Order: sequence, then C-alpha cells, then structure tokens
Amino acid sequence: MTDTSNNAIWNRRFTFVMAATGSAVGLGNIWKFPYITGEYGGGAFVLVYLGCILLVGLPVMMAEVLLGRAGRTDPVHSMQENAKLSDASPAWSFIGYMGILSGLMIMMFYSVVAGWVIDYFIQSATGAYSNADVETINNNFGELVNNDSRELVLHTLFTCITAAVVATGVVKGIGRAVEILMPVLFVLMLLMLIYSANQGDFASGVEFMFKADFSKLSADAILEALGHSFFTLSLGMGAIMAYGSYMPGNASIAKTVFAVGILDTLVALIAGLIIFPIVFANGMESNQSVGLMFKSLPIAFSQMPGGIFFSSIFFGLVSIAALSSSISLIEPGVAWMEKKGISRLKSTITLAATAWIGGTVCLFYGEVFDLLDNFTTKVTLPFGGLLIAIFVGWLMNQAVVKADIKLRSDLFYNGWLWTLKLISPLGILLIFAHTLGWI
Ligand code: PFF
Repeated sequence: MTDTSNNAIWNRRFTFVMAATGSAVGLGNIWKFPYITGEYGGGAFVLVYLGCILLVGLPVMMAEVLLGRAGRTDPVHSMQENAKLSDASPAWSFIGYMGILSGLMIMMFYSVVAGWVIDYFIQSATGAYSNADVETINNNFGELVNNDSRELVLHTLFTCITAAVVATGVVKGIGRAVEILMPVLFVLMLLMLIYSANQGDFASGVEFMFKADFSKLSADAILEALGHSFFTLSLGMGAIMAYGSYMPGNASIAKTVFAVGILDTLVALIAGLIIFPIVFANGMESNQSVGLMFKSLPIAFSQMPGGIFFSSIFFGLVSIAALSSSISLIEPGVAWMEKKGISRLKSTITLAATAWIGGTVCLFYGEVFDLLDNFTTKVTLPFGGLLIAIFVGWLMNQAVVKADIKLRSDLFYNGWLWTLKLISPLGILLIFAHTLGWI
C-alpha cells in the first residue's frame, strides 16, 4: 500500500477511532471546555453541552464520515464525487475548499496556544515553578504572551512537529502517531484524575460540574455550548471527512462515531474533573477565563505535594492532545494537493509554511488571533456543518446513505436522519442568528 492519501486506508477500525478521537480531543477539551464551563456557571452548561453533542454534533459527524468514506479521497474531490452520484451541483465541492481554508486558519492560532502549552511543559519539567510564589506564576502568562521571540520559537517548533507527522504519511505517520499518542493520553488523564481526586477538593469539583442550576443559564451559554460542540468534534471543515476516506469499508459508521463522541466527551468531563478540584482546593475562582489553565492551575500545582511532577505530566498530555488535533488541521489540504499531483512532502511544507506565517502574524497582532478564532468557530465550522447536514439529509441518494451508515434498527436510522434533516440545521441557524445579534 502506498502511504500517500491517494487510496490509503487504515486497516483497523481502531486506527480510525484513535485518529478521529485524536483530532477531536485537543485544546478545545482541556483548555477551552473547563474555562467556558467555569464562565457559564457549571452543571447546567454541562448538561446543555451534552445535549448539543447528542443532537447536533454526533448526527453531523456521522454525515461527515459518510461523505468521506463514500468519496474515498480528499474533501474537495469527495464532495465532487458525492455530488455527481446524487445528481447535485459540483458546486458542493465548496464545502471542501472552505474546509481546507478553515483548517489553515485554525492552525494559525492553534499553534500559538500549543506553543504556550509547550512552554508550560518545559517550565514545569525543569522545575521553574518549584519555588515560585503566586505573584510570579500569575505574571508568567502575561510575560510569555509579551515575549514574541520565545513564542515564535515555540510556535515554530509545534508547526514543524505537526508537519513532520503529516509528511510521513497517512498510515506510517498519522496512523502510527495516533495509535501511540492517544492511549498514552488516556493513561495520563486517568493518572491526573486520581491525583486530583486525592489532592483536590473533588466533592466541590463534582458538585460544580454536575449540579445543574438553571437560573444561571443564559441564551449566550446555550449558543456557546452549541458552537463548542462543533469545534470540539472537529466538525464542518473536512478533517473528519478526510479521515473518513481512510476508514475501512466494513466498519459501522454509527458505532465508530459514537465511540469517538463518547471518548471526546469523557476527556472534556475528566479535564473539568482534574482542573476544578485542584483550583477549588486552593481557594481560587472557577471563572478565570483563558487564564484558568495557564494561571490558576500552575499556581494550584505549585502549592500541592508532587505538584511540579504532575504539572509536567499535565502539560505534556495537553501537548499530545494539541498535536493529534493539529495534524488533522492540515491533512485535508495536503490530501487535496496530493490528488492534484504534488508530492506529500511539498504539499505539507507549503501548507505548514502558510499556517506558520499566519501564526506569526497572530503573535504580533492579538486582534488577528481573536478574529481567526471567532471567524472559524462561529462562522466557517457551523456553516460547513449546515451544508453537510443539508447535503446528506436532503440531497444524497437515501438508499446509499442507509446502506453506508449501517444502523440496523429503522427506529435509530430514522431518528438520526430526521435529527440531521431538521434539528441539526435549526441548531446551527440559531448560532448564526445569535452571532448576528438577532437573538
Ligand atoms: N477538536 C479540536 C479541539 O477540540 O481542540 C480542534 C479542531 C481540530 C477543530 C481539528 C477542527 C479540526 F478540524
């Protein structure tokens, strides 16, 4: 088998599950989910988030995998193929082009945050926090964000590691990396959970995350939960479609997607159960926004027995999670360029260099960072998801859809189809209406 994206197929369902979970589990789960849960008051937000994953995220994910596996190539050509088979306009390949651009835009700010994570890993591992006081750690984040040359080195390092994995190929690079990285990540998460249960204020953490106080729930919170369900499952930008094209033909899409959704959700919940008990045990607030992971948590670690060691493990695991996501951000574009006859190495270098330039601009201009984050999370990913739901739900040949999705019970099949046709698009339209300030 060649190790380019053309015709590459992972021969085990396990590899697909690890790759898709690797894409899904990332900074969104460990950095963003806990801090938005903190901002929106805990339990009720978590419940709404779980509802969004079930009613919007998973149905759209099944549709996206289906499109990839049916097309068996990069997102642009897969959509062209699917459109042809369903007598739809070739313009549907727009989903693929928009996805490739979205991936590059996300990679630009993602590699900057991943660079911060690597910095915290290095500082923890070299014991820089061991004798530091609260003030010093608190200021550390601000200093890092203002130290452009240090940020540049770290973001360059992260981009190069990502490119090296992608350039090595679908089977030997991405497949092998995720088969090793993801189990390591799960073990480290469980280790951290045990640590937090022993050393943190676990009861308060659990209560905060699971006791639903609906009086705290605003329209903002609901829409944030909906938007985040796209980002966290890597939906609407072709990453999951590209991975779907490498999925073995006999694997059940429904079962596989459920496995990925459950793992992604578990990691987000465990991340909250690691962070909040540690933060509460040290008398700190849950609503620390972006700084929750970069300020409150290191301060808390520095006060705890074994904190420095566990801090290194924690930031090491976040680095792994970021890497397994970032490879899926450039893979759709690389697969597309390869299909056009450009070598995998050249395609990877071209796209990684483009993302690197954008990331460097983000370092110097914070507004560009925010713009790319907001534009992708609130516009291009949900829009891609909306188009995917409409295409599979309303336009695709339903006999092909039914045969491919492999949901044996008609009840489940119809439940999925109608959720995809109606509830998912409605949810996405609500995000847009909110973004435009209409609701
Ligand atoms: N799902 C990733 C996270 O939660 O960090 C982010 C992401 C990766 C979004 C890949 C989109 C994507 F295609």
